[in-house]
Amino acid sequence: MPVEEATISVMDRGFLYGDGVYEVIPVFGNRLLRVEAHLERLKNSLARINLQDPHSDDEWMQIFSGLLERNTGDDRAIYLQVSRGAYPRRDLAIKTEYPPTIFAMVLQVTAPDIEVVSAGISVITVDDFRWDACDIKSTSLVANVMLKQQAADAGVDDAILIRNGMLSEGTASNVFIVKDGVLSTPPIGHKLLSGITRDLVIEIAKNNAILVEERDIKAAELLDADEIWMTSSTREIAPVIQLNGEVVGSGKAGDMWKRVVDKYQEHKQLLRIGKAL
Ligand code: PDD
Repeated sequence: MPVEEATISVMDRGFLYGDGVYEVIPVFGNRLLRVEAHLERLKNSLARINLQDPHSDDEWMQIFSGLLERNTGDDRAIYLQVSRGAYPRRDLAIKTEYPPTIFAMVLQVTAPDIEVVSAGISVITVDDFRWDACDIKSTSLVANVMLKQQAADAGVDDAILIRNGMLSEGTASNVFIVKDGVLSTPPIGHKLLSGITRDLVIEIAKNNAILVEERDIKAAELLDADEIWMTSSTREIAPVIQLNGEVVGSGKAGDMWKRVVDKYQEHKQLLRIGKAL
């Protein structure tokens, strides 16, 4: 149905508590990018919040194809959300007798123009005051909203989150740094979301003989980095050219970014013609 006609109960726990999880899956041509990894992450998020996966992978795939048939286009994304449903009374306790609320829609995405992307973005670092369960792709995003607003208030594009002096991630993306030809990103764990784009970037780098380190990164290393990137399904790979008002590296999208982004675009192109994994 048209999205503006879809309704849910005001008692939905997704609405009352942000008690739900979600996924954003990019679609190129008619093909979903790394759908198995997205479904795996969905399962992990659901398991972490004690909510049973309402569908098998095959059923999810049928839902996705049905949506894509009805919402044609080239570059799109599927947004999907599962909340713990509507209970008759407002009560934090989990009760398994009520069915979850499942919502999915197609987002029409305009692929970021490579010329615009290569101009780079400006960011600030902010204190990551979120909880210790950031590996859950939870719909409780009020902290992320507040952190993103700190960036807007500072007149920059986005914020990089720092917890106890260490890099965690972006407000809705993962962060990579390049120093002396080595690509580094913080390891997965409870402090960040394990991005599917992050995995793909690591895979592309390794396949192209770039040394990759998944390790704890000090905030101070950001200032000293040759390149900084922010990665997500919607941002793809965005080069950061200014951090806290200081120029990053050469002040332009770096050589390593160019190498990896070219391969990323190639991957998308192969996916469109059904040749990428
Ligand atoms: N967000 N970290 C956070 C906190 C995120 O919200 C996201 C993605 C990522 C990157 O994950 P991926 O590469 O799988 O997109 C990391 C999506 C795009 C969103 O909220 O719209």
